[in-house]
Amino acid sequence: MKKKTRTTSKVPETGFAYRNGVLHTDGLSLAEIADKQKTPVYVYCGRHIVETYQAYDAAFGQRSHLVCYAVKANPAHAILAALAKVGAGFDIVSGGELTRVLGAGGDPARIVFAGVGKMDDELEAALDAGIRSFNVESHAELHRLNTLAQRKHCVAPVALRVNPDIPADTHPHIATGDAKHKFGISQQQIAPLAAATASLPGIALHGLAMHIGSQITALAPFADAAKRLRALAIELRKTGINLKHVDLGGGLGVGKEAPTIPDYVGTLTKLFPADDCLELIIEPGRSIVAHAGVLVTSVVRLKHGDEHSFAIVDAGMNDLLRPALYGAYHDIVNVDATAKPPTGTYDIVGPVCETSDTLGARRRLAIREGSVLAIMGVGAYGATMSSHYNSRPRCPEIMVESGVARLTRQRETVEELSRNEKFMTTNNE
Ligand code: LLP
Repeated sequence: MKKKTRTTSKVPETGFAYRNGVLHTDGLSLAEIADKQKTPVYVYCGRHIVETYQAYDAAFGQRSHLVCYAVKANPAHAILAALAKVGAGFDIVSGGELTRVLGAGGDPARIVFAGVGKMDDELEAALDAGIRSFNVESHAELHRLNTLAQRKHCVAPVALRVNPDIPADTHPHIATGDAKHKFGISQQQIAPLAAATASLPGIALHGLAMHIGSQITALAPFADAAKRLRALAIELRKTGINLKHVDLGGGLGVGKEAPTIPDYVGTLTKLFPADDCLELIIEPGRSIVAHAGVLVTSVVRLKHGDEHSFAIVDAGMNDLLRPALYGAYHDIVNVDATAKPPTGTYDIVGPVCETSDTLGARRRLAIREGSVLAIMGVGAYGATMSSHYNSRPRCPEIMVESGVARLTRQRETVEELSRNEKFMTTNNE
């Protein structure tokens, strides 16, 4: 049998590696960072983020393309600024993300705006900014955008988001390309809607878009959906509608099963011959930042139950929701692997009062109270999905760039949690 070969990417799998038994990033010891900042704390490797973005960019070669980082994966200012500096585009889903990207120096001409429920103020702000593309998800949104653009005497550049009706083998909460999902416009409705844009003076139809889901580790669903998008683009061309771009969304998964960036990009570019004259846009989020981030946490207590042993750590589901919400698996490792306490099998649990506050089940670890652990691969959808549940302040974030660790978000205080609450009494009257 012919062995399947994989194109390798030059970017290391994660931004973290052991040096003399201690986990480091960009020359800095996570043990030292944890000691200084206390735990829990998120730590990001800026170099890994930039190099992964550049691997995407390079994989397109001479093809006209734009890589738009999906801001929702991690909207930290430091990350957006690092990506803006190297010319990245951005995929946004709210006015908040627009403000963040512009504040971090992002180029509005490289911003695409997705989302099923864009509000008037968000559409207006994006029109004012002059973004590249509104990825429109319904007839109603198209007409609303037309009205708002006309009021501003401008024309909105639009891509129609197609729902390609392709199942993606991923967690059902993060699949988006099936006909039953709320996202996009059905394939049958695209041609009539595209034709109708000719009579909307506030709309310029520039493209088609799609996004079939997230953490997808097979190339076939991407290819199948892209073929459907191309077929629609060709159909429109026959009716005289010449598109400028296709936006193939994000969704490339991470982990051992995931295709490499060159394989993924190669699969897409092959489906759109250069003489299609279509710029290719993609919107990767997770695959750019997931392995550039860890959550460092300390063991508060060990508890040996009748059936399970528990390592209770100072990070909880409020800091990292993915295991509780999607049953996500994240490696959990010792930051300092030189100390050798007895090894046991533990459920790594947080302090939050829910059984779902389990960050890792049945993990073999050599730990004692005070051991510092790193939860790996949490740069995407980690800090950004954190909450104050159980009145727990959000933890700080550290960005390591050029061998320097910068505190880019400071630890919240308990007082800050009540900042916007009314009718608080401060004494016992
Ligand atoms: N474009 C659109 C329109 C999206 O909705 C998304 C993700 C992306 C791009 C980026 O997808 P990525 O390359 O990151 O897979 N909270 C979940 C993931 C939700 C993804 C939502 N949309 C998680 O923690 O797994």
